[in-house]
Amino acid sequence: MSESKEAELNDNVPDAVRSNQALDADQTEKSLLSFLTCGSVDDGKSTLIGRLLYDSQLVAEDQLASLKKDSKTHGTQQGEMDLALLVDGLQAEREQGITIDVAYRYFSTLKRKFIVADTPGHEQYTRNMATGASTCDLAVILVDARKGVITQTKRHSCIVSMLGIKNVVLAVNKMDLVDYDEAKFNDIVADYIEFADKLDIEEIVPVPISALGGENVTTLSDKMSWYEGESLLGFLETFDLPDESIKAPMRYPVQWVNRPDLNFRGFSGTIASGQIELGDEIVVLPSGKESTIERIVTYDGDLNSAISGQSVTLTLQDEIDISRGDVIAHKTNRPCIAQQIEASLIWMGEEPLQIGRAYQLKAGHQTVIATVSRVDHKLDINTLDQLGAKDLSTNDVGLCELQLSRPIVFDPFEKNTETGNFILIDRLSNTTIAAGLIKGADRRADNVHWQAMSVDKQSRAKQKGQKPCCLWFTGLSGSGKSTIANVLENKLHMAGQHTYLLDGDNVRHGLNRDLGFSDEDRTENIRRVAEAAKLMVDAGLIVMVSFISPFKADRRLARSLFGQDEFIEIFVDTPLEVCEERDIKGLYAKARAGEIKNFTGLDSAYEVPETAEIVLKGAENPADDLADEVLKILHREQII
Ligand code: ADX
Repeated sequence: MSESKEAELNDNVPDAVRSNQALDADQTEKSLLSFLTCGSVDDGKSTLIGRLLYDSQLVAEDQLASLKKDSKTHGTQQGEMDLALLVDGLQAEREQGITIDVAYRYFSTLKRKFIVADTPGHEQYTRNMATGASTCDLAVILVDARKGVITQTKRHSCIVSMLGIKNVVLAVNKMDLVDYDEAKFNDIVADYIEFADKLDIEEIVPVPISALGGENVTTLSDKMSWYEGESLLGFLETFDLPDESIKAPMRYPVQWVNRPDLNFRGFSGTIASGQIELGDEIVVLPSGKESTIERIVTYDGDLNSAISGQSVTLTLQDEIDISRGDVIAHKTNRPCIAQQIEASLIWMGEEPLQIGRAYQLKAGHQTVIATVSRVDHKLDINTLDQLGAKDLSTNDVGLCELQLSRPIVFDPFEKNTETGNFILIDRLSNTTIAAGLIKGADRRADNVHWQAMSVDKQSRAKQKGQKPCCLWFTGLSGSGKSTIANVLENKLHMAGQHTYLLDGDNVRHGLNRDLGFSDEDRTENIRRVAEAAKLMVDAGLIVMVSFISPFKADRRLARSLFGQDEFIEIFVDTPLEVCEERDIKGLYAKARAGEIKNFTGLDSAYEVPETAEIVLKGAENPADDLADEVLKILHREQII
């Protein structure tokens, strides 16, 4: 775990836990092990963590008093101390105002400091596992001795292995409920080893425990004398930590440009991996500009070198343009850059993955729009077989191809976990819907390079004496989009402008004739017409697009293809009743009669634009006036 992560975690731990840290004065000298616990409350996970905290005597006096009291009122242990309440109590504290998915708990013993990423265990909480696990050294997978290895155990193990965690403790809990039976334990271990054989886990350490009674948790139990290994804590204390490798390639994602005055210009962030030294020759990606490290600045003065996990501000010998999201690396050891990538997705969204839908992708400090163009396969969690699949549903894990709105800088996850992962966010609900582990650049795009043309957009536009742009009309069927766009094109044309009008009904006769009106098809419909409009803008034209384009995410994708002043969204805001009343093509009547399915406004959603540059009241004015209104705004804003 990186130091900054640790600092952040320490900032976030509740006071009750922080007071425990104070019990331990010289903790800074000790090594830090961060581990993940996987399993459900039913497997005894809360009890186990409570037991580790309690037996390491890290529970503050006042907490202990309230625990004893709570155990009598809420406990499940007949008035005996219920350690699970300790953990659940902390959890409730954490949940007040702290919005990270994973609860991190801190404790330490005489030998070592620990951070436990405690993740809820129900299947639908895979999300928490995936986000909590990425920085862990080891995973403790809990199994109920009565149930053995179940699907959830397999799912968790699979994700743990995908996340690059090579060491697993298989904690077989509730041994008291199977009479501490050695044969039962051995069967579960054999089962697990057989399953895990197909995973990339290097070491599995099985420990039979009873979290409730504290058997084999912090000390060895006399009830399982047949067990020859260490107690769980004993193992965690002595586990050889992987060498925090400063040999890894240097990656420095720029978090912000630090410019307090005209004399200083530095780039602040945390070193994701490797080591930086003064005088290092570096390259800034994606721009490819090169320079040399001039200073490594920190609050406590300048450094000669810094390693992964350290937060620093770099200055360079040359004035080059760098912005948030750029990545600094050594000239001789560069990360990949690609706009099409292949990645394993751990799908957490409640809605299934939709091919072609625009999601937000965050990789480090880079944010781009991403669409999944294909699911290559998904995993059968029980057998680890690869199954053909068209989409992914909650908790599915699959290999996908993604198209990005801009190239991103990354390393394959296998080579660098810090710079090889991302999350996908649903922009409407603003929730994380997938964790992604990058396999590499999409092979199909490998040998396709962007060709720079000598006649470019500017020269084409100049020849036409105009500023090319895309005027994107959105609104219900019958709202008047096409009529207004048509009048507008006429006016522009008469004024000598070079234009083109892409109309939904027309484009659906040719380029998009293979598409219907399902959500997926509409998304692809918009993607294609947006790409076509982009080419036309590149050709120097003023392009009008008149498509219902009912989904915000799709309109956002369209917008992302254009420069800042090039895309003007025009919402033709005509009430549904008026459109239906007009019913120029008789389609509303057909839809009401059930002859047309998925009709926008009736049984398919229209997501009202919130960021449209222009809103036209389609029911209130004739098309000619509305077109003039648009013209006026375009002139005023100097768009045309
Ligand atoms: S979009 O939703 O994918 O953007 P688009 O603008 O291309 O739609 O096409 C909409 C046109 O298709 C409508 O103006 C209407 O004439 C016709 N149409 C046929 N079926 C439907 C439907 N189910 N929903 C909306 N429009 C439909």
